[in-house]
Amino acid sequence: MHWTDKHVLCCTASHCAQKGANDVVMQLRREVLRRGLDSRIFVNTCGTIDLCDVGPNIVVYPDGVIYAGVTPKDIKELVDALAAGQTVERLVLGPDTAAECGRRDLYAAATDPAPTRPAADLEALAAERGFDAAWLAEQARRGFIARKPGADGGPETITVTKKARDRYGV
Ligand code: FES
Repeated sequence: MHWTDKHVLCCTASHCAQKGANDVVMQLRREVLRRGLDSRIFVNTCGTIDLCDVGPNIVVYPDGVIYAGVTPKDIKELVDALAAGQTVERLVLGPDTAAECGRRDLYAAATDPAPTRPAADLEALAAERGFDAAWLAEQARRGFIARKPGADGGPETITVTKKARDRYGV
C-alpha cells in the first residue's frame, strides 16, 4: 500500500465474479499501468459490498462513488475519469439513480400492504416495470425475495425479504 489520489476497490466475490469482475479488474489494472498512473490510482480487489445483484461493482475512494454493472468495455472511460478527477455518471449507483429507484418502486409496490403475495402478482408487478423472469431469479438467488409453494393447493407465494426491505427502505 502506498498513498495515492484514488483507491479503487473492485469486488471479485462470487456474484460479481460470475458476471466478469475478474476481467474487469485485470483490464483496469492493465490500463492504469499502461498510462503510468499506478502511483496515483491504486487498484485493489475486495469482497462483497452487498450490491451483488447489480455487479460487477467498483468503489472509488476518497470520492465515495460506487460504479455498478461495470464491463471491460467501460475501462478506458473509467480510467479517463479517474485520471481527470471526474465520474462516469452512467455507471454511478446511488439511492437516487434511475435503476435503484426502479427497484425501490417495485419493492414498495410488492410490500403494500404486506410483503407476501401470490407469485403471479409479484411477477406481474415486476413485468409492468420491465423486470423479467431472469431478473427475478437473480433477486431470489440474492435473497431479496423468497418463493414458497402454495399451501393446500394454493398458489405459490413470493415474500419480499427483510434484506430487500432494509435495502430499499420499504
Ligand atoms: S459479489 Fe460483488 S457486491 Fe456482492
